[in-house]
Amino acid sequence: MEILNNKSIPVVNYASGTPEDIPILMQGGNYIREGKDSHKSTAIIFSLKEEVGALAKALKIFDDDKVNLLHIESRSSKRATGDYEFIVECDTHEGNITGAMERLREASSYFKIISRNYKDNSDVTPWFPRKIRDLDKFANQILSYGSELDSDHPGFTDPVYRKRRAQLADIAFHYKHGTLIPTIDYTPQETETWGKVFTQLVDLYPTHACKEHNHIFPLLIENCGYRADNIPQLQDISDFLKDNTGFSLRPVAGLLSSRDFLAGLAFRVFHSTQYIRHHTCPFYTPEPDVCHELLGHVPLFADPEFAAFSQEIGLASLGAPDDDIKKLATCYWFTVEFGLCRQEGEIKAFGAGLLSSYGELQYCLSDKPEVRPFDPQKTGIQDYPITEYQPVYFVAESFADAKHRLMQYAETIPRPFSVRYNAYTGSVEIIDSKKQLDNIIQDIKLDLNILQSSMLKIAVMDS
Ligand SMILES: [Fe+2]
Repeated sequence: MEILNNKSIPVVNYASGTPEDIPILMQGGNYIREGKDSHKSTAIIFSLKEEVGALAKALKIFDDDKVNLLHIESRSSKRATGDYEFIVECDTHEGNITGAMERLREASSYFKIISRNYKDNSDVTPWFPRKIRDLDKFANQILSYGSELDSDHPGFTDPVYRKRRAQLADIAFHYKHGTLIPTIDYTPQETETWGKVFTQLVDLYPTHACKEHNHIFPLLIENCGYRADNIPQLQDISDFLKDNTGFSLRPVAGLLSSRDFLAGLAFRVFHSTQYIRHHTCPFYTPEPDVCHELLGHVPLFADPEFAAFSQEIGLASLGAPDDDIKKLATCYWFTVEFGLCRQEGEIKAFGAGLLSSYGELQYCLSDKPEVRPFDPQKTGIQDYPITEYQPVYFVAESFADAKHRLMQYAETIPRPFSVRYNAYTGSVEIIDSKKQLDNIIQDIKLDLNILQSSMLKIAVMDS
């Protein structure tokens, strides 16, 4: 017998494949997990109808259908007290996987398929990270490696630059959550490139950047080594952000898919490049680089309302269908990258693509582009160019208003559950049962007690 949370569960006697090869983990926790080979495996979570030997019968289904099991895990259910949930990871290359799933569904009181290999089945929820350390799995899921340059990249024919890019990409590739981001010893040439960009942009910020950016930028100079003659280090910035909004940085080796990148935001994690553009073109880069990340993105992630807005995009993306991922990525583009906002009767820039581009930062506030109000339903379907200035920008009334609108849009995304980020455990909770609603109500009651107590104390102080 295996012991789980002081209760007994049936011994797993057999399964398809070789039973002794199947790891049975009873630690619970991260239930939605990526397969060992995400293209060949699918994960199923199920709770069984109460009857003696139910798990043995369920596993025999896989055996009968010649489906090989790679992993079995179990824990007590958060949906119903006293129930157990099981997760099995199946090799989808062999056996009658469809038949096995149908029969298992019939035998289960709860059944959900979760996998990256979901495109051929609209009934499957795409895999998404449940714990912050799950973001480590993205490190080898990049669409293009940072050292691979397009032929029109200014550094394409420079072997020294390409070698440097490969070196920095390797650091990101091997980075693990919870470890320090390695310090980069930037060369004088790299620092000089940074200095040219830095010096040019800081002149524009007072008149063109939003007030949040202008409030935080001096703090970055003071705390994180933002200077023309110094490229700040990601770990120092990450520590600063953590203290302010709980955001953190993690280095990224190359381009992530929209789904993976947005998922990071759900955990208040921003994937940041660590390399810099080619020295021959200091005012142009065809891709994100350390100038874009540190000058454009970082200041806003230290603002609580912007951080909350960014996290909402991430939370809305978890388990969302591909169409909605595309809309959310477009909303991200027109806000976090190229967003404008209205402040004290004027329009200012808060998008990182604007705050890291001397030319577009001036252009976006001129009378040349079209400006429309931010509305996720409309913004999310707007086409945009990626190699030229934007013909259309969207204006948020405030970060709080943008967050409210985004949450309204997120309600329309077809998902059979809601999600909530638990900052204590660094995990995403799936809310799909009455018991979990009761837990949320208890949390709200605690907050209301604090609110009531605080209001009484403040009223006494004011009287
Ligand atoms: Fe960016």
